Amino acid sequence: MPARLLVVVKSGGAAAMPEWRAAFAHALPEAEVRMWGDPEIVPAAVTHALVWEPEAGALARFPNLRLVISTGAGVDHVLADPDYPRHVPLARMILPETRDGMAEYVGMAALMLMRDMRTIARQQAEHHWRIPPEMPLARRTRVGVMGLGALGLHAARYLATLGFQTSGWSRSAKTIEGVTTYHGMGQLPGFLAQCDIVVNLLPQTADTVGLPDRARLSLLPRGASLLNAGRAAHVVTADLLALLDEGHLHTAMLDVFDIEPLPQDSVLWSHPSVVVTPHCASTPSRTDRAHRAAALIRLAETGAPIPDLYEAARGY
Ligand code: GLV
Repeated sequence: MPARLLVVVKSGGAAAMPEWRAAFAHALPEAEVRMWGDPEIVPAAVTHALVWEPEAGALARFPNLRLVISTGAGVDHVLADPDYPRHVPLARMILPETRDGMAEYVGMAALMLMRDMRTIARQQAEHHWRIPPEMPLARRTRVGVMGLGALGLHAARYLATLGFQTSGWSRSAKTIEGVTTYHGMGQLPGFLAQCDIVVNLLPQTADTVGLPDRARLSLLPRGASLLNAGRAAHVVTADLLALLDEGHLHTAMLDVFDIEPLPQDSVLWSHPSVVVTPHCASTPSRTDRAHRAAALIRLAETGAPIPDLYEAARGY
């Protein structure tokens, strides 16, 4: 086993390396930090990897890896590699900033959807003055969060503090002050039926892909809106567009896409009922994430429990 710490980083490319290096120099000065693909890397010397979307088979080439850390909260982009070395612990990157950023994005989106800001933005582009017939209020608007993990739980609490009638759905039962909770497949229809706005924050696992499918989204009240800040694979785009075009759903605000960056020719860019944000819901700074990665590496090196580890049995 190599005695030194050698961290390889794959996130943001060469342009991001100065920031990653500077932060690691401060937080983990004993480590050597190399950019992914650096031809001078000796594979057997690599001890830790900090990655976003590593190419299939790439991590398996490092025989002495001790910990893989995702640069994001999700690890689906690592597990997509069929040769991912499953004996190596894999950590999710969840900082207080990740939780706060997501909660604030979800709060902003819920308020924008409630106020139908996409219509108001279009009216502005058309120089069209039209006052909405009614002023909606958060306390009269029902927002439901699918997925009550680290991010969903925090977002649901934040929505409740904004005054929304907040509910949440998760696989297992949870109790959250100020939030009406539903759980399990049996309670999913009842949960969906009472959401004016549904927020998807599920992790991507074999069980959650396609869970908000066309049939289930049809259970939302007519005129409801969807915010997807989980993963694109949860919602089939064609199903979503059909529900928007039929008028069953009012607006879809999407932060995650099957292909990112969203291709120029995607119909989502200019669909009148879709709001696109560029996967920016919650991405803490590289400096904050490097500090978190350094803390996780230190814990791993001392044999202490590592928080937010991927668990194969639950799929995230
Ligand atoms: C981004 O989507 C992440 O996983 O943090």
